[in-house]
Amino acid sequence: MKILFLGDIVGKVGRRTVTNNLEKLVKKYQVDFVIANGENVTHGKGLIEKHYYELLDAGVDCITLGNHYLSKDQLLNYIDDADALVRPLNISKRIGGQGSRLFEVNGINIRVTNVLGTAFMKEEVSSPYYSLKSLIDSLESEDSIHIVDYHAEATGEKVCFGYAFDGLVSAVLGTHTHVQTNDAKILPNGTAFISDVGMCGAANGVLGFEKNSVMRVTMFGEKDRFGFDEQDQGLLNAVVIDIDEATHKAREIVTVKLLEEK
Ligand SMILES: [Fe+2]
Ligand SMILES: [Fe+2]
Repeated sequence: MKILFLGDIVGKVGRRTVTNNLEKLVKKYQVDFVIANGENVTHGKGLIEKHYYELLDAGVDCITLGNHYLSKDQLLNYIDDADALVRPLNISKRIGGQGSRLFEVNGINIRVTNVLGTAFMKEEVSSPYYSLKSLIDSLESEDSIHIVDYHAEATGEKVCFGYAFDGLVSAVLGTHTHVQTNDAKILPNGTAFISDVGMCGAANGVLGFEKNSVMRVTMFGEKDRFGFDEQDQGLLNAVVIDIDEATHKAREIVTVKLLEEK
């Protein structure tokens, strides 16, 4: 079972890059199932209904979220009908939807779970470890591949989380920091891991946003919003994981870095 996981899709350039390249990637890697992190899809923060369906039309099968899950409160209007959407499992706010969801592809079950980390994150959450562990314990009899999107800031926290669930899930894939890390590997008990998948967005900005606007805010303390350069070249970061359908352990994880053709 080949699963393509796309890092945080940021704004219009991210949507364009995914829409224009997904079919090609699916063919190239013979992908059976596509997951995308969608927390930054709508103007950099959140996910409106129109963009949710736009990504499904482009070929995404499951969309996960992150700390920006509620940046567009329109989410509350459609979350209970969005059966391909997985919001963070361990948030304290009650917003409906599901933090873990089961999909079926050619008779194979794939569970996708989204968990928020705690270090340097300000959202109110319950323990990521105990939230996922109690979910796994409750699913003891379920026969499924299990992909976890661990949305967290600190690399060390993500590495710990990977080892904590090594052998208990098929993959722990880090998201949120928007820069692809060079540590993709299969852990000793068969779980695919990467600290951060990266992002799909503007290649020459800062984490997908227009660089000068981010520098004005971050370096010089000016009151401004992060902007976008829709003319920028798109970058697509992803991983492809190959999972053994019988054991649910990972055979391989490869990183993908694609630059939009000019
Ligand atoms: Fe993000
Ligand atoms: Fe995030």
